[in-house]
Amino acid sequence: MSNREKINEKKLPVHIAIIMDGNGRWAKQKGMARIIGHQNGVDAVRDTVEASAELGIKFLTLYAFSTENWNRPRYEIDALMELLVSALKKELKTMTDNNIRLLAVGDLKSLPDKCNRELNEVMELTKQNTRMSLVLALSYSSRWEITEAARKVSEDVRTGKISPDKLDENMFRSYFSSSHIPDPELLIRTSGEHRISNFLLWQIAYAELYFTPKLWPDFRREDLYEAIVDYQNRERRFGKVSEQIIS
Ligand code: FPP
Repeated sequence: MSNREKINEKKLPVHIAIIMDGNGRWAKQKGMARIIGHQNGVDAVRDTVEASAELGIKFLTLYAFSTENWNRPRYEIDALMELLVSALKKELKTMTDNNIRLLAVGDLKSLPDKCNRELNEVMELTKQNTRMSLVLALSYSSRWEITEAARKVSEDVRTGKISPDKLDENMFRSYFSSSHIPDPELLIRTSGEHRISNFLLWQIAYAELYFTPKLWPDFRREDLYEAIVDYQNRERRFGKVSEQIIS
């Protein structure tokens, strides 16, 4: 039985988040420039997005550029931004054909104008699509998101809009740039690294973590199916005991 056949479509995660890692190492292994790894990473993005939509996943979040990635050499940052713009232009058809809505989270105003323009255009053109939301985390880090939320909460307390004793988890969360997106149930990281790297720290409180040695440019739908089968074989207890879990 293939992994695709093993998937229980009634127990799919609503939201899958992916840390796409290993583009640089993939290129290095082949004696090529790092950007070639990123370029090949776009093929992995396309296959994963299509497979997720076909399966019935409602939200897919991809960590495409972290706050820390701004510390990379200038030429790599520029090449990644160019790649993002060209991929958005090229993949608009994939999104339209598959009824996919594009969303973005992160400090978007820090992105180059050209990037923001393309992003806004594709988000506008796909905003009516309902099958799946593809969320790009760009110039994103969890500490940035939580600090921003704390700053906005403090401002609303200062102006009397909210009272500190009314602040609870749900209210705090509503200040996140990703507040409109449910928490991921499954987080996948490629390339064999077992780290979260400042990604959705609050939101993955109860997520199942799945690590694969595959480098991102080699990741394909078969790998996604394998991760989902693994997820479906786990018992999610949310702090309860096994006997309290009704399957
Ligand atoms: C991590 O690999 C990957 C990135 C920082 C960028 C991810 C970008 C893409 C897959 C292409 C464009 C994306 C979209 C959404 C169209 P790394 O460079 O850290 O690899 P390494 O750890 O092997 O050096």
